[in-house]
Parts: sequence; C-alpha cells; structure tokens
Amino acid sequence: MSFKNAVIVMAAGAGTRFKSKTSKLLHDFAGQPTISYLAKTLSNLKDTQVIFVVSYQKEKIIELLSKNNSFLFVEQKELDGTAGAVRVALPYVDKNVSKIAVVPGDTPLIPSSLISNILNDRADLCVVGCSLDDPSGYGRIKSTNDKKVKAIIEETDLEAKDKKIKVVNTSIYSFKKEFLEKALSKITINKKKKEFYLTDVVCIAVNMKKKINCVRFDEPDLVLGANDRLGFLSLAKEVWNKRAMDHVNNGVTIIDTKSTYIDDDCLIGTDTCIYPNSFITGDSKLEEDVTILEGCRINNTIIKKGSVVGPYVYIDGAEIGTNNKIGPFTYVRPGTKTADKVKIGGFVETKKTVVGSGSKIPHLSYVGDAFIGENVNIGCGVITCNYDGFKKSITNVGDNAFVGSDCQLVAPVNISKNSYVAAGTTVTKDVPEDALALSRTPQKHIEGYVKKVREKNSKK
Ligand code: UD1
Ligand code: CA
Repeated sequence: MSFKNAVIVMAAGAGTRFKSKTSKLLHDFAGQPTISYLAKTLSNLKDTQVIFVVSYQKEKIIELLSKNNSFLFVEQKELDGTAGAVRVALPYVDKNVSKIAVVPGDTPLIPSSLISNILNDRADLCVVGCSLDDPSGYGRIKSTNDKKVKAIIEETDLEAKDKKIKVVNTSIYSFKKEFLEKALSKITINKKKKEFYLTDVVCIAVNMKKKINCVRFDEPDLVLGANDRLGFLSLAKEVWNKRAMDHVNNGVTIIDTKSTYIDDDCLIGTDTCIYPNSFITGDSKLEEDVTILEGCRINNTIIKKGSVVGPYVYIDGAEIGTNNKIGPFTYVRPGTKTADKVKIGGFVETKKTVVGSGSKIPHLSYVGDAFIGENVNIGCGVITCNYDGFKKSITNVGDNAFVGSDCQLVAPVNISKNSYVAAGTTVTKDVPEDALALSRTPQKHIEGYVKKVREKNSKK
C-alpha cells in the first residue's frame, strides 16, 4: 500500500502527572482506553499511514491497538523529548508520503476534520493553537504584530513579558516531509530540561524562511485534553453527558444525562427510557420502548422492544426478547437468551440458558446451562445443579412444565413437557411427560412433644 500522508502519534511518555501505575493511554476514558479514541479517528483517515511512537507499557498498547488496525509501532528507547519521538518514527514513513501530521497520544478527542485540514494545509509547517484564559503550563505561540508565528516558547523558558500570551501550542502539527527531515536534524538539546523539543522547529522554520501557518482551534477539550487525573475525569464526564444528550435528541428519554453512561457503540431505539445510575456498555442494543430502571449495567446485550429491566440488574452478553420483565436485583450472565414475554424476577441468576416464550423464573433462583421450554414456571428458590466439580451438565425443562418451589435439578436431567415437580424435590432422574415428580421425606408428627418439653423446662 502506498500512502499520501502520514500521522505520527507521540505516545511514549509515562504521563507522570497522572500519578498512576498504568499509562494514561490505557486508562478508561468514558468507556474505552484513552488511546482507542485517537486510534479510531486515525484509522478512518484515507491514504494515511499511522505510526505510533511507544515506550512506556508498549506491549499493552500494541496489543490493544493491533486488534483491528494496521498501525506501525516504533519504540522510542530513550525518552529524550517530543523531537526525539518524531525522530525515531521518521525513517519508517512511507517514501511516497509528502505531508506528515504529528499529534500527542494523550488527547483522545482530536477531531478527524482538524487532522485532515492540517494535512491539506500548504505551509511547510502548520501548528494548531488554542486560546486559553489560563495558559499556564503550556508552550505559548509567539507571533509578530502582523500575526506571523515567530516561536513556541515553553513555560519554563518564558520571559515575563510573554506570560500574557494566551494562545498555546496544542502539540498538533503538520509538516512538509522534506522540511521536517531537515528541521529535526537541526534541533539541539534544551539545556534546562535535557530534552529535544519539537517546538524548536518553529525557530528553525523562521531561520530557513519557510512558510508557517497557525490554525486556531479554540476548543481546549478537543485539542488539549487533560494532563492530570482530575482534569481527565471531568473531561470524561462531559463526554458521557454529551453522548447521553445526543440520545435524548434522537428520541430517547434519559431521566438524568449526567448519571447515565452509554458507550460510543451502543444503539438505543426511540421512546426507550433510562433511569439514573445506569451503564449501557460494549455493543449493547436497546430497541424501541425499552425501560431500564435505575442502577442497571447492560453490557454487550440486545434488549428487544417493550422489555422492562431493573432496578439494579446486571445483564452481560445476553439477548432479551420482546416484552420481558427482568429484575429487580438480577444477574443475567452470558449466553442467556429469552423469547417474548419472559419474566426473570428478583434475585435470580441465569447463565447459558435459553428461556421459551411466556416462561417465568420469578424469584430467587439459579438457572445455568439450561433449556427452558414455553410457558414453564420455575418456582421460588429452584436451583440447577449444573456443576459436579469437573464438568458442566445440561438441564432441559419441556413446555408447560411446572417446577415447584425449592427444587434442585441435578444435571444432566430432563423434565419432560406438561410434567410437575413437587415443591422441595431433588430431581436426579428424568421426569416423564405428564408425570408428578416427588422426592420428599414423608412428614410425621410427634403428638404433644412441645408441650412435654415446655413442662420439663418450667420445673427447673
Ligand atoms: C508539549 C509541548 C507544549 C504544548 C503541550 C500541549 C514540547 C516541548 N512541548 O508539552 O508546547 O503546549 O505539549 O499538551 O513539545 N512524548 C513522547 N516521547 C517523549 C516525550 C513526550 O512520546 O520523549 C509524548 C508524550 O507521551 C505526550 C506528548 O508526547 O503524549 C507530549 O509530551 P508531554 O510531556 O505531555 O509534553 P508537554 O510538556 O505537555
Ligand atoms: Ca501534555
């Protein structure tokens, strides 16, 4: 494949201001690792080679990003600054590339349109600037009176008179390739910080009389991200809130968008209603007219029309049919698949279980590795004993069967259609059609026993 453009992502730093054992790039940001957002943006750019410069926790970053993408990864062995990062990537840039964008890896929300814009810019060097009320901590873009860019000066090297400059360097740039090659060879080490600063390219371009452009993009959340943990968390909150509001604008009722957390890839149908403190994550899809009551987590799950879930239900990797009632306080685990009008009630756990139309598991049960037919009633406290310490076994319950309360179904076992299992039965053998299964110790009464005990104790 030959490319017209390239993007170099500077992603080698440890992100020390984040104060974490885990790289900032791998931290969850509104539902996905921070770096996944930029990766998604870049993978959609046409004719563009993408090179990630990595070092800190590189194995994990490479593993995460290689899954669905064809990115190139280059290791920056010595963390000697932003120019050093670009320098190690440059030899890997495809020979047909004429324009190179450079972006920081820790800024998840950079818009793809901005990257396309600067790649199309004709200047030798284009730098994206952002105006901030409080520019402290950032490199400042210094311009001449007629708005020509003169230099980028880091906070530590700033003279007092330049402290009032409000336009900061976002670390998002584009370069003509020949210029970048020449400029990088001229950058010398910054004596204070002992790093090679990519920002020095501006002075080099001025000296070489190259054309410099500054593109202003005054939305700091998108181009500067956040450096410390607090800033990062509040930015993530805004992203969650905005996503929820987008769903509201598309016809979903969300009682409180600030406490409803919906992943980017989730689909939600019209007139579905979501109560506060719920997470809808992964590849979940909620069809129309679904209600998610408060405190639910729905992960990688399809919920069909008209179903009501919650409060406090966790559904993971399941497919819920139309007009179901799930919960409250229920754990629906992977491989659960229900037909229409199913009820999985309070304090129930299901796993790898198919439930037929109209069936009910209303209270306090564990049903795992089971096939439940249509119009079955599973009474309160029924347990499938699906594990013998070595392997899992299957329980089949036929259509219209009625399993009374507090039964244990010891798998593998079949309960045939139209049969009854009496309350308190431990089923260890298959139950035939239309039969009643019963395994109870007969009840006996010892007449007058309690009265005798009472009398004996009152004499002491
Ligand atoms: C940099 C800019 C500053 C700008 C700011 C915007 C320089 C010298 N300064 O400062 O003008 O206002 O970004 O956020 O460039 N990285 C590497 N290898 C390294 C060093 C850094 O890959 O050796 C990566 C980091 O992981 C990070 C990015 O480059 O993703 C920026 O580095 P960082 O240390 O955050 O630079 P700042 O001090 O914020
Ligand atoms: Ca930074």
